[in-house]
Amino acid sequence: MSTSKHRRLNAWVNQVAEMCAPDAVCWCDGTRDEFDRLMGQMVAGGMAVPLAKRSNSFLFRSTPSDVARVESRTYISTSDKDDAGPMNNWVDPGELKATMNALYQGCMRGRTMYVIPFSMGPIDSPIAKIGVEITDSPYVVCNMHIMTRVGAGVVAKLGVDGEFIPCLHSLGAPLAPGEKDAPWPCAPLEKKYISHFPEENLIWSYGSGYGGNALLGKKCLALRIASAMARQEGWMAEHMLILRLTNPAGRQFHIAAAFPSACGKTNLAMLTPTTAGWKCECIGDDIAWIKTGPDGRPHAINPEAGFFGVAPGTSSESNRAALETLRENTIFTNCALTDDGDIWWEGMGAAPSHAIDWQGRSWTPACSEPAAHPNARFTAPARQCPVICPDWEKPEGVPIDVFVFGGRRTGVMPLVHEAYSWDHGVFLGATASSETTAANIGAVGNLRRDPFAMTPFCGYNMADYFRHWFDMGERFGKYAPRIFYVNWFRRSPEGRWLWPGFGENSRVLKWICERSEGKAGAVETPIGLMPREGDLDLTGMSIAGKDVRELLRVDATAWKAELPDIEKHFRQFGERLPGRLWKQLEELRQRLG
Ligand code: GTP
Ligand code: SPV
Ligand code: MN
Repeated sequence: MSTSKHRRLNAWVNQVAEMCAPDAVCWCDGTRDEFDRLMGQMVAGGMAVPLAKRSNSFLFRSTPSDVARVESRTYISTSDKDDAGPMNNWVDPGELKATMNALYQGCMRGRTMYVIPFSMGPIDSPIAKIGVEITDSPYVVCNMHIMTRVGAGVVAKLGVDGEFIPCLHSLGAPLAPGEKDAPWPCAPLEKKYISHFPEENLIWSYGSGYGGNALLGKKCLALRIASAMARQEGWMAEHMLILRLTNPAGRQFHIAAAFPSACGKTNLAMLTPTTAGWKCECIGDDIAWIKTGPDGRPHAINPEAGFFGVAPGTSSESNRAALETLRENTIFTNCALTDDGDIWWEGMGAAPSHAIDWQGRSWTPACSEPAAHPNARFTAPARQCPVICPDWEKPEGVPIDVFVFGGRRTGVMPLVHEAYSWDHGVFLGATASSETTAANIGAVGNLRRDPFAMTPFCGYNMADYFRHWFDMGERFGKYAPRIFYVNWFRRSPEGRWLWPGFGENSRVLKWICERSEGKAGAVETPIGLMPREGDLDLTGMSIAGKDVRELLRVDATAWKAELPDIEKHFRQFGERLPGRLWKQLEELRQRLG
């Protein structure tokens, strides 16, 4: 039975139900009752483990092959291949739909089909968008409850003919009559498809139950489809955290920072500053939607309502706020289970003497493999974060003062530098590079260009995306944020982190804020403006002078060696690459001498 008065929505739901042939259709209302009922079923079916130590919290273990996003199976399907561009996988929409339609036939047999109306962004925000996800995974429903706004308010806003983005998801694991379900149903890699049709704002996902592959409001809607919409409508959808820093004088700064997956957004967004008198508040940890406000300034909202964060490495030393956020009402995926009914992961603190690892096997610290998967995640409500900003749900968003780009680089890239201009800042974003992480299925530690941390998330040709950044700079005019580039991950020749990171990153943010108000000093280098040793507040910090010098060193020879790769990166876009980026490359070449 349909609970919607929306004719287009009902027609789509009926059509999908006919194709996928579920045993039942359930319209989700986002209530606690619904969450409890679905979790109860999953606990009874052996898919979820309730945690004795955390109220209303549950552990899931995925199939070992379904532990992360699958960039190799992610498609931007446009009628013209060039509109997807060289950094995206492309298949012709007709062909892709035919392939996926065949897979979707009867794919929900033996399962319930859930219809989830959700809002990305506070429902009353002019920047928010509505999506409707159809899924056969109750795990997805429970995660969507936390990550998005689900419920009556969305249905009311949809009305009888409101706009929505259809998001179709199936695990691709139909059940024969009487067949027992798997603990984590999904399809094999070659049958997984994470498909986007930006010309009709449509998302089709098949075969994976994991995070960004299955919670379609997140990467699929809020980044890939939204980035394409944003370009047409003159706004921005970015893979950025949003934070507010308040200095001892009470002045507020809002920073939006783009780092690739598993490169420090959640940790920076919730940092505990070590700089005296500074306060940090979190607005978002992964995605920012940015529009020009009535005052002409860029305003950002966090379209999400929760955090789907990397678990390993999260500890009360590195990120106290995150740990407090996870105290209750949290879903854990691929973490270890301790004997007293709690979760554990590498980098959380003292290892338990015994645990059950993420694959359900007995584990002790003597085991050679980690207890938690490196991409183990927590799903937790943002409102539980002790440093959530009181304005995080403001419909108009917060005014952005500064953009920061970054990545994970063992060498070459210094701790921080500032762009000379908007064009130079766009160049820094366009040439950003980072070592790959466990957030994607594939090799880890491979250096690649990851422009604006959007390589896996841009829903159209990256060259057009660069052009859009130039256009937005003109739109922002005198309010265009200053642009910086950071790297917390430089290592010594012996492989030690040169910079302690986490809360200490506040020292770099302090310099950035003070630059933005024209206070802190800087020196011109070939790659950009950089703090001299005395410009960074290192008070009370124990770091060797030689490490600071290394962190701030610009090795001209190493930088010159980067130029051919930047050129190659640019060349893949052919004529579509904005000439302003070639000009920036030429200027960098000249400054390097
Ligand atoms: P996604 O959710 O995949 O988009 O990741 P993210 O960008 O939010 O990354 P996150 O903050 O979860 O950090 C990923 C990993 O990097 C964790 O294991 C952290 O412990 C580690 N990390 C984060 N910040 C720092 C830092 O400043 N220094 C060092 N050395 N490690 C860090
Ligand atoms: C990322 O990979 O950037 C994430 C996790 O934030 S996922 O939702 O799985 O994409
Ligand atoms: Mn992310």
